Amino acid sequence: MILVTGGAGYIGSHTCVALAQAGHEIIVLDNLCNSRADVVGRLSRLCGQEVRFVQGDIRDGPMLDKLFATHPISAVLHFAGLKAVGESVNEPLAYYDNNVNGAVQLLDAMRRARIKTFVFSSSATVYGDPASVPISEDFPRAATSPYGRSKLMVEDILADVAHAEPEWRIARLRYFNPVGAHESGLIGENPQGVPNNLMPYVAQVASGQREYLNVWGNDYPTPDGTGVRDYIHVVDLAEGHLAALDYLHRQGGLLTVNLGTGRGFSVLDMVGAFERACGQAIAYKIAARRPGDIAACWADPSRAQELLGWQAKRGLDQMCVDAWRWQQSISRGGGG
Ligand code: NAD
Ligand code: UD1
Repeated sequence: MILVTGGAGYIGSHTCVALAQAGHEIIVLDNLCNSRADVVGRLSRLCGQEVRFVQGDIRDGPMLDKLFATHPISAVLHFAGLKAVGESVNEPLAYYDNNVNGAVQLLDAMRRARIKTFVFSSSATVYGDPASVPISEDFPRAATSPYGRSKLMVEDILADVAHAEPEWRIARLRYFNPVGAHESGLIGENPQGVPNNLMPYVAQVASGQREYLNVWGNDYPTPDGTGVRDYIHVVDLAEGHLAALDYLHRQGGLLTVNLGTGRGFSVLDMVGAFERACGQAIAYKIAARRPGDIAACWADPSRAQELLGWQAKRGLDQMCVDAWRWQQSISRGGGG
């Protein structure tokens, strides 16, 4: 059985479906600070099994001890955490407590229970402002926000744990920009308030919830002047976790890999793709650069392909079609 922390959230819920499809039994632990309990029912439908759900916090050691003592858990996929970059600048302690202390509490409880297989949600944010693209795993790391620093810290803690106790099997997965939703339209990303990220914002413009998109800068040194990112379909990302878990079972040790497509698209490319998916124009205005943004960021995904035999399969059009289906489902009150 696999424990999925943060399994009611965006990436965790899609990974639960991939795990269930591969025959794994799963149990979700989530404190619902950024998700809703009703996702569990939809997840059970998609997984074809009653998904066990525990509402609780990864910082609650006694609860974790009980959870590990009463379920035959063999591995932990750790998605739980806070992820809003701007908020982390204003509330750094909340980020270090949730993301860093939370990971330490979880690892310590795993150690007490002698469970030593761990997959961690890291981020391309650990590369800071990269000197060049594509970015490979041996690039220097740098933090540009408390959120990013919390990811760097947990990456380092995991390296120390792997060094001290080589029987641990640990994956540090550096996600690029996850977008899209499950093709069923039953699960997806439903940010609270005004979305910070591009795709949910574009989807809300398409559904009429927002008037227009602000394109943050068109004077970057990129082909059309707007920021370029490596957008990866969340189901591809979910499948990357399965491949990482398989690798850990085969090889053990400490694995660090990028999960991206290896292709970069600009903000205007994304707007164009979304227009094709929803069949209508997306209004936008060019605005000033967003502080802290970088010009271009995309992955060298070759290590994941080599070690895991995994590569992203779903293209830009499918990302947008699935994101649009999900957005319509939210607008009808169906999801999220
Ligand atoms: P999300 O907010 O949708 O999911 C995280 C889940 O964790 C939520 O359901 C939340 O309720 C839960 N949670 C938070 N703190 C918790 C705690 N202390 N105890 C128990 N549950 C808790 O976010 P997501 O987009 O699915 O991201 C999952 C992970 O991937 C995060 O660690 C995030 O930093 C990382 N990541 C996300 C992105 C992205 O663009 N979405 C990119 C890189 C890395
Ligand atoms: C952001 C985070 C990053 C995190 C990543 C994935 C910041 C500074 N960085 O990265 O740490 O790992 O999300 O969750 O928040 N854009 C617009 N208009 C919008 C929104 C975005 O033009 O309304 C542009 C941005 O300038 C950027 C691109 O769209 O060029 C993607 O932005 P976004 O989705 O926020 O992701 P990142 O900036 O890559």
